[in-house]
Amino acid sequence: MSDVRIHNLAISLDGFATGDGQALDSPFGHAGERLHEWFVSTRFFRAADGLPGGTFGADNAFAERHEPGIGAEIMGAGKFGPPGWHDDPDWKGWWGPTPPFHTPVFVLTHRPRPSIDMEGGTTYHFLDATPNDALEQAREAADGADVRIGGGPTVVRSFLAAGLVDHMHVAQVPIVLGRGVRLWDGLESLEETYDIEAVSTPSGITHLTFTAKNR
Ligand SMILES: NC(=O)c1ccc[n+]([C@@H]2O[C@H](COP(=O)([O-])OP(=O)(O)OC[C@H]3O[C@@H](n4cnc5c(N)ncnc54)[C@H](OP(=O)(O)O)[C@@H]3O)[C@@H](O)[C@H]2O)c1
Repeated sequence: MSDVRIHNLAISLDGFATGDGQALDSPFGHAGERLHEWFVSTRFFRAADGLPGGTFGADNAFAERHEPGIGAEIMGAGKFGPPGWHDDPDWKGWWGPTPPFHTPVFVLTHRPRPSIDMEGGTTYHFLDATPNDALEQAREAADGADVRIGGGPTVVRSFLAAGLVDHMHVAQVPIVLGRGVRLWDGLESLEETYDIEAVSTPSGITHLTFTAKNR
């Protein structure tokens, strides 16, 4: 069976994957860009934006594992748009007319709407479903390839709690946010079901990989 993977999920030292006060002009709330500075500096990220240069070391090696072998993504309503996007019939995500997913994307929301075809192979589907049911649909759409859980932390936490994640890469950034949405709440003893490795890079990021012991 295909794998369920999480990549480049950035958290602060105190475990927050986004700050407080998400809004249209601040997708990560008071965290600003600090959780993702390491990521947007990589060659992988810059090349996807058509930009030259970028770091080409260990941070980049982790970053670029995001894409190969992925056939669908599942994300939460909180990643798809700022609070209130459900009331805007024209909202099509943060990523413009050609989103960087290039696969079906399943947006979990209690207020689903019709699917939207975007340029470049991305189709947004909106689902009010349990993690298990959403995964079943995403797996079918992925046609044998892996499914990525794209975040945010609420959705990642629900897939971890349901025991559905095979591989997870978390990038721990050396900042303390103090408030926001925490990744680890309710996941007591998660380490018992995963083999965990950690490596720190010169940029100060600690990359943690979780591999399910039953895989
Ligand atoms: N640090 C990172 O690497 C990273 C990665 C991705 C995103 N982010 C950030 O994380 C933030 C979003 O995270 P979040 O935790 O606030 O929200 P989220 O996980 O993206 O989405 C949570 C929302 O999705 C809907 N939902 C979740 N499970 C559902 C289910 N089973 N059925 C139906 N609807 C369901 C609900 O919204 P409704 O009830 O409103 O529909 C819920 O409030 C954003 O700031 C984003 O920029 C950070």
